[in-house]
Amino acid sequence: MAREGTKKQALNRSGSGQAQAGQGETLQPTPGGPSNPPKVGTGPPGHARGRPVLESAAGVEGGVKGKGQGLLKGKEEVEEALNLRPRRLAEYIGQGQVVESLGIAIEAAKKRGDAVDHVLLYGPPGLGKTTLAHIIAREMDVGIVTTSGPALEKGGDLIGILTHLKKGDVFFIDEIHRLPKTVEEYLYSAVEDFAISIVFDKGSHARSYRSRLEKFTLVGATTRAGLISSPLRERFGIQRALDFYTMEELCRVVRRSAALLQVPVDEEGVVEIARRSRGTPRIANRILRRVRDYAQVRHGGVITRPVTQEALELEGIDGEGLTTLDKKFLETVIIHYKGGPVGLEAIAAVLQEETDTLVDMVEPFLLKAGFILRTPKGRKATDKAHGYLGLPKTSAEERQLSFLPGQR
Ligand SMILES: Nc1ncnc2c1ncn2[C@@H]1O[C@H](COP(=O)(O)OP(=O)(O)OP(=O)(O)O)[C@@H](O)[C@H]1O
Ligand SMILES: [Mg+2]
Repeated sequence: MAREGTKKQALNRSGSGQAQAGQGETLQPTPGGPSNPPKVGTGPPGHARGRPVLESAAGVEGGVKGKGQGLLKGKEEVEEALNLRPRRLAEYIGQGQVVESLGIAIEAAKKRGDAVDHVLLYGPPGLGKTTLAHIIAREMDVGIVTTSGPALEKGGDLIGILTHLKKGDVFFIDEIHRLPKTVEEYLYSAVEDFAISIVFDKGSHARSYRSRLEKFTLVGATTRAGLISSPLRERFGIQRALDFYTMEELCRVVRRSAALLQVPVDEEGVVEIARRSRGTPRIANRILRRVRDYAQVRHGGVITRPVTQEALELEGIDGEGLTTLDKKFLETVIIHYKGGPVGLEAIAAVLQEETDTLVDMVEPFLLKAGFILRTPKGRKATDKAHGYLGLPKTSAEERQLSFLPGQR
């Protein structure tokens, strides 16, 4: 029973950061270990007994990781998000090279009757890592078992899942950088030799049993590639970074989602939503839903540029897609720390936010859009940031003065 308690905690922890059904969230509290594996995923009814529940390759959209920035509001939005997620590689917009190389790997694996090589996907939240994992499974016509790094607390949790994978299955570990070290070590031989050694009993009674596994594809996703140990990283044959989407690609995302949601939107409305989406399809979809609601209540349903502008003003999203938190971040660097350089912890302390939230949710876009620079001494606001917020740069003289006692 104590074990169930821990499992539930694992479940909550991964669920609190990310409302991702079919991932850590769906891990059932069952006694783990090889003979009694934890169940994973939400899969179709009538699955084979004793096998981890496989999720359908459709998946469910993940929420954002940061605190206070949750995107999913109830069952309806989760269902909507599920419908918006591309199911096939051909439907997947953007990330040209990643899609092309995955397409080749999938086709080649199919021809050989083999599993796809292990895939590591990294990049900021909401760019389509989970979506790609599900697409790989669907294109290969295999099952997918999903979990997340923090949900796998013990070696037994992992062994239970691995020993029940079927040939070619995709095993998706989200937030793989948060995998405990002990669990990670089990994964090494599993992904390399498709075998694991299980140790029974302790001390002089200890016996080791080597179990062969079916050949599977590990798909790891992370927002922090730098935090993955090199032994683990080296075991991924395919490692791809997802980048922010271009305006043209975001416009395609908005048009596609609007068509699926059956929301009328004119071309100017599409461009306005794309412009404010911070290069991120998840944000484009979220904004589209918010503007749709606004248009339906206040403007007879059609999304145009003025409707989008009004709706997003209400949401606190400005013309460049910057949120209130982004602007507070920039103001802290510029006003509080005279433009920087300043360490992230210092910014987090002023904003009363977790550094993780800033690293995952705020910084990537501010860097990409050229509002901040990351220097060895810390974060610096750029001229663009000063200009955008209409805040003058601190002169070298003022900066000197600010370091004298009594000046702060
Ligand atoms: N290439 C794409 N084309 C169209 N829509 C996309 C694409 N990529 C992602 N989306 C949309 O964005 C949503 C978020 O994508 P996804 O959940 O795969 O992101 P993620 O990278 O796994 O994020 P996180 O790091 O937060 O887990 C999807 O549900 C889907 O609707
Ligand atoms: Mg994800």
